[in-house]
Amino acid sequence: MKLKALLTFALLIAFSSTALAAAPIVIKFSHVVAQNTPKGQAADYFKKIAEERTKGRVKIEVYPNSQLYKDKEEMEALQLGAVQMLAPSLAKFAPLGVKEFEVFDLPFIFDDYADLHKVTQGPVGAKLLKKLEPKGILGLAYWDNGFKVMSANKPLKTLADFKGQKMRIQSSKVLDSQMRSVNAIPQVMAFSEVYQALQTGVVNGTENPPSNLYTQKMHEVQKYVTVSNHGYLGYAVIVNKKFWQGLPADIRTILEGAMKDATKFANDVAKKDNDEALAGVKKSGRSQIVTLTPQERDAWKKAMDKTHKDNIGRIGADIVKEVYAATGYKP
Ligand code: LMR
Repeated sequence: MKLKALLTFALLIAFSSTALAAAPIVIKFSHVVAQNTPKGQAADYFKKIAEERTKGRVKIEVYPNSQLYKDKEEMEALQLGAVQMLAPSLAKFAPLGVKEFEVFDLPFIFDDYADLHKVTQGPVGAKLLKKLEPKGILGLAYWDNGFKVMSANKPLKTLADFKGQKMRIQSSKVLDSQMRSVNAIPQVMAFSEVYQALQTGVVNGTENPPSNLYTQKMHEVQKYVTVSNHGYLGYAVIVNKKFWQGLPADIRTILEGAMKDATKFANDVAKKDNDEALAGVKKSGRSQIVTLTPQERDAWKKAMDKTHKDNIGRIGADIVKEVYAATGYKP
């Protein structure tokens, strides 16, 4: 009887350690946008190829639409290890103590995606990601979204149109300056709260790439959308450093390969998604599309240029100059 009990015990131990060995490594990937956005699709694509290539040894749980955490909370959750992967907008890194990413928020700094890639795919981009490491975070990649439109319940064309408009912004001091430079009143707010704030009039307007505006149905609660392309919004894919470095080396290598392919996927769909989203806004007839004459756009650029001067000290002159040199931007 004693022997039988011992044998059962030994079998139990053997069984549970096999079960433990077979338990997949879980990576929780939280984000705040809809699944059918460039970031949402890229996160799902990363999940698919990472799980396939690791043959069940890794399970990626993607939580879209602020399901798990809102903007500020998700950064804290990553540092605490409650989630392992995020792709926050580049405008949201200052609360971590890394203000340099706000260089991406400077108005009119990138003419197009080609200009942007000179930074995100070049040495300045790599240098910026390195700045996250002392915070316990590793930057794996940049994922594109797109160039921003400005929406409100009045057509925003001339500088005078902005006066007194309460505009929701992401938590970036550069975006705060940008709105102030045209006499609008910036208001920081989590992405998940924007639709309701627009609907109830807590704010009058906002800025975002069309893909975010359309998938959150913001155009249904905004009368006008100005296609200004005055600034850029994109992401850094980040992981908890301790977690990432603690992964078995072969798994980490496979995940890095999957991230490379997911990055290509993200950057390939971003422009198309934004073009389609803008077409969707137009087709819906819910808000009217406003276009700027070259003179009007130039007036925005001139007024917003102050944002560059006012924030060089905050972002760091070296970074700003390196980005100017990469893109050929002339202040
Ligand atoms: C926003 O808050 O407007 C964006 O950062 C949302 C996102 O992640 O694209």
